[in-house]
Amino acid sequence: MAAFVAKIVQKRERVQEIRYPLSFKPSDPVLVPNIQLRAVYSTDGTCGPANNNTICDPNSTAYTGGCCSQYGYCGNTAAYCGVGCISGCPASSSSAAPSSVPSGVTPRADGRCGSAFGGATCDPKGAYGGCCSSYGYCGSTTGHCLVSNGCQSGCSAQTSAVPTTTGEPVIGPVTSTLAPSATSTAAVTTDGTCGTSNGNTVCGNWANGNCCSMYGFCGNTSAHCGAGCQSGNCLSAAAVAAPGPSPAPLAPNGGAFTIVGQSGVPAMHAALMPNGRVMFLDKLENYTQLMTADGYYAMSSEYDPNTNTVVPLAYLTNAFCSGGTFLPDGRVISVGGNAPLTWLDPNIGDGFTAIRYLSRSSTDATLNGQSWSEPGNKLASARWYATAQTMPDGTVFVASGSLNGLDPTVPANNNPTYEILSATAISQGQNIPMEILAKNQPYYMYPFVHLLRDGTLFVFVSKSSQIFNVQTNTTVTELPDLAGDYRTYPNTGGSVLLPLSSATNWNPDVIICGGGAYQDITSPTDPSCGRIQPLSANPTWEMDSMPEGRGMVEGTLLADGTVVWLNGGNRGAQGFGLMASPTLEALLYNSSQPLGQRFSTLASSTIPRLYHSVALLLLDGTLMVSGSNPVQMPILTPDAANPYVTEFRVENYVPPYLQGDNANKRPTNVVLSSTAIKANGATFTISFTVPANAQAVKITLYHGGFVTHSVHMGHRMLVLDYTGWTAGSTQQTLTVSAPPNNNVAPPGPYVVYVLVDGVPAIGQFVQIS
Ligand SMILES: *[C@@H]1O[C@H](CO)[C@@H](O)[C@H](O)[C@H]1NC(C)=O
Ligand SMILES: *[C@@H]1O[C@H](CO)[C@@H](O)[C@H](O)[C@H]1NC(C)=O
Ligand SMILES: *[C@@H]1O[C@H](CO)[C@@H](O)[C@H](O)[C@H]1NC(C)=O
Repeated sequence: MAAFVAKIVQKRERVQEIRYPLSFKPSDPVLVPNIQLRAVYSTDGTCGPANNNTICDPNSTAYTGGCCSQYGYCGNTAAYCGVGCISGCPASSSSAAPSSVPSGVTPRADGRCGSAFGGATCDPKGAYGGCCSSYGYCGSTTGHCLVSNGCQSGCSAQTSAVPTTTGEPVIGPVTSTLAPSATSTAAVTTDGTCGTSNGNTVCGNWANGNCCSMYGFCGNTSAHCGAGCQSGNCLSAAAVAAPGPSPAPLAPNGGAFTIVGQSGVPAMHAALMPNGRVMFLDKLENYTQLMTADGYYAMSSEYDPNTNTVVPLAYLTNAFCSGGTFLPDGRVISVGGNAPLTWLDPNIGDGFTAIRYLSRSSTDATLNGQSWSEPGNKLASARWYATAQTMPDGTVFVASGSLNGLDPTVPANNNPTYEILSATAISQGQNIPMEILAKNQPYYMYPFVHLLRDGTLFVFVSKSSQIFNVQTNTTVTELPDLAGDYRTYPNTGGSVLLPLSSATNWNPDVIICGGGAYQDITSPTDPSCGRIQPLSANPTWEMDSMPEGRGMVEGTLLADGTVVWLNGGNRGAQGFGLMASPTLEALLYNSSQPLGQRFSTLASSTIPRLYHSVALLLLDGTLMVSGSNPVQMPILTPDAANPYVTEFRVENYVPPYLQGDNANKRPTNVVLSSTAIKANGATFTISFTVPANAQAVKITLYHGGFVTHSVHMGHRMLVLDYTGWTAGSTQQTLTVSAPPNNNVAPPGPYVVYVLVDGVPAIGQFVQIS
């Protein structure tokens, strides 16, 4: 015990110690790379203003690397050379020095600034913040203020709150200086990049298309030819306009949010595990509520919704913005991540290529509370913001990601490929280029992916989607673009594969809602939704809308197959400090209703759930809502600069189907003839007890998947066929048909819900193979 206490004390000192180099006063001179003119080489691997302004010697034998990190250490990885790098930084992370912009031009009232706006500066006491981002927006986040992110004026590279590689480059809209029509004298691209940030090239006959997008990529989608198009066949107006907001009447019963516990760690990622508990998984932080056995803060936890208690879980590599899925054997995996931050925890390594496993079981309680296992299997390439989907044969499709966490408008930073892992998550070792990802840069990360009944994948990024055949590595169908704003990171909405049933021959039907226009706190958000049946003869988007624009809104299936949309905000984007106007109300979406009558308004939460929030369905048919950590490192008390901070409170949302007296109408004593079910259409039985006046029963089979950043990877539901309902009997035994194949139900853990007159019994875990 004494040793443990000593370690905690030691750790506190360590935290103090690492903060020391960061304690610059805002009035200190801004350090730009030209500090090298008066600096001398470090001899001991420390550098920067806290260390006599030394710089790093790339050829030193005493230490490795020529980049000086924001914390004052020499190195050569993204942690040192990326966001926040002080000196020796690569050109891509230290361009646009403040001196390139005329100074002293009066700030504008609209918060725009920089070279495209006559050199206007930003008012640090104004409504937006004192730094001018590379995209001409005033703000106060590291995306705006760090020189390494292209800050144009008012930059405060070392004065912002703990800059780390955990910062995210901000990709605001580019204001083109080119006339939208290609001038005949302009040079033609040789690599698919174009526009103001790429030497003013045009696209010419580039294979992907001749429109130069706002962000400097050649292509032919609405994201290239629509708003912000710099040259080529730009469209003057969108071909299809997305609908504006439409009212959603109050639901007769709105359900209720209740604060029930604390998540222990910020809830960046979450999944319901086969023991009925929820894992929360976070990035490296300088504070969480829990500690691991080594005396450092825990970055993952396991929450028991029955007791609302939480225990720490250790991990070995930084899981910042990982992807994940469940394996056929029931283990959940997290893949990819970001660089180590050894000053926060020397025991946690580089997570860019990591594959982490967590094993839980509905029958073996000894696994509860055991930490992540990382036997050393690695992805074939670095992936930060990858999506994972378990395939019908149990292999895992892993797609997209950033190679280094740096500016995604620079193609060399991006990984628009996919790789396949075995059913035990061993990578096949090949990174296969994927056109839809390459084409939709910089909006190519965390794609929405849904497995379809013929074994192909629906893949959606930016505004574009397609059906992709992994086995043949081919695009089967290019689907029409979805009208409206961007729908994926950093302006994500949510995407839900609606419940599949034999009645429609398991025909997939996908709805995508929300999104936004660009990555800044000023961005409008999109109230519209598009719904498409990708395998229909002539797939088209049917448009609908929510009562207000929402970014980071996430759709979560309820046990009865309706969808709850919740979390997010009405203005801004993903990234630290970039969202305001939290949207607190939950919406119910009933896909069976006629168009225009599908949304109704449920209860509201009292807790803003902005960047890094989660919502997921629990075994008992209620939702867990947690997270919101829109700051680089946990801040517990809001202030004017950070009105939205780290949120550890866990809410339970009771949907209308369990509200009031309904809670007493749950079917009980649910017993399955087997919890190991083959997806071969064979039958199994479910017996249960119902109230005497029960009228109707519905059996759903649910997989919650891996939840992060409003993306629910693998999330799906099937409505199962049954026979044997005996009207008037309180004791029922149904003969239920298993899923017909693994295309509609890929192998892994699922929950069976028995709903009687709309009220779900406590779910039962089954293993589908
Ligand atoms: C973590 O970093 C934040 C942001 O810089 C700071 O406000 C906070 O005090 C730090 N927490 C600890 C425990 O050092
Ligand atoms: C897969 O298809 C892409 C084109 O989209 C191509 O570039 C790549 O070489 C193909 N890879 C394999 C392994 O077939
Ligand atoms: C959804 O709509 C269908 C069709 O109108 C209706 O039968 C069902 O009760 C609705 N579900 C809920 C939860 O309102």
